[in-house]
Amino acid sequence: MYKINENYSKFPGSYLFSTIGKKVRVYGEAHPEKKIIRLGIGDVTQPLAPAIVDALHKAVDEMGRGETFHGYAPDLGYAFLRETIAECDYRSRGCDIEADEIFISDGAKCDCGNIQEIFSLDNRIAVCDPVYPVYVDSNVMAGRTGTYDRERGTWSDVIYMPCTAENDFVPELPEKENAPDLIYLCFPNNPTGSVITKEGLQKWVDYANQAGAVILYDAAYEAYITEDNIPHSIFECRGARGCAIEFRSFSKNAGFTGLRLGFTVIPKELKCGNVSLHSLWARRHGTKYNGAPYIVQRAGQAVYSQEGRAQLKEQIGYYQRNAAYIFDGLKSMGYTVSGAVNSPYIWLKTPEGMNSWEFFDHLLERVNVVGTPGSGFGPSGEGYFRLTAFGSYENTVEAVERIKAL
Ligand code: MLT
Repeated sequence: MYKINENYSKFPGSYLFSTIGKKVRVYGEAHPEKKIIRLGIGDVTQPLAPAIVDALHKAVDEMGRGETFHGYAPDLGYAFLRETIAECDYRSRGCDIEADEIFISDGAKCDCGNIQEIFSLDNRIAVCDPVYPVYVDSNVMAGRTGTYDRERGTWSDVIYMPCTAENDFVPELPEKENAPDLIYLCFPNNPTGSVITKEGLQKWVDYANQAGAVILYDAAYEAYITEDNIPHSIFECRGARGCAIEFRSFSKNAGFTGLRLGFTVIPKELKCGNVSLHSLWARRHGTKYNGAPYIVQRAGQAVYSQEGRAQLKEQIGYYQRNAAYIFDGLKSMGYTVSGAVNSPYIWLKTPEGMNSWEFFDHLLERVNVVGTPGSGFGPSGEGYFRLTAFGSYENTVEAVERIKAL
């Protein structure tokens, strides 16, 4: 008789965004006359930029002709895209990253979830609290997190690094005596929208190098950084090549949530003893993945073209305007708000002592606005709520007006 992976039975519920999706669906079916405004999951709403659409059309035409048809993509990605990324995202910022250290994939979520496979099961992970649920849930599936404490909402073998108003939602370094092996960091942060300075991130890199830990750095939101001295990549820090892996996405900077494209950077000198993590990930990628589609990789290349950059600057500006609108609107109503300045996420304290899920229900039922309960991201998120700037401007304005009228 076969057996299932029992680790899946340890989950207290479904994936956060599936739970929210279901709740909203049930509400919508019961109230078909209501116009629900969705500012929950960070999914973009603006159409692809014209430069990207042109690249897609051109690539589709190439696929339709024998001389320019492409079958399987190289499993680590086409050189034209890897070279472009190495130049535009890294070397132009002074980061020493080569094209062959970049692994193209169908998105950062899969890479963030899959990366744990190349590490031993007895590695101890540390996560920010609150945290993007994929980092923890993928380790639960692998059996690395111990048992779940329902009361506290924590896993016994995970080191939680609280991110609270007191530390500006940037975690303290873990104790050296109890150092984690794998440290997940995400800046600009999902869900709080907080950022870390270059000096702050350098401390993490130094810590990881001393402790023999690896930092798994999710930089999916770097395009939203507006302030100076906020690093766009962990490879801006000295010594990061010896301790860090970086994840990037085309979803939030170029609207690829439905097209799917991302990449992971693993420097060649990142080694455990004499085994390079680059070669382990290459082995995994080559075995389990057939490469992002040619047409999508060509679209990805267009993101870096002159027209692409100009059009995307405008598109990101559109979402930044939404973020500022929500931030200012809530602040003027007396809410305690953070995020937004370098991030598409707005993080607010729930009013009147409501917990995160109570506020979720309150907003959904009273004004038909959907957000994400902070407690869904971890125990330190209790009493907080996340709104996203990825709606249309009109819906964003309407949502703020509706919240004002509460
Ligand atoms: C979020 O809402 O946190 C993100 O959209 C989820 C994701 O990017 O997978």
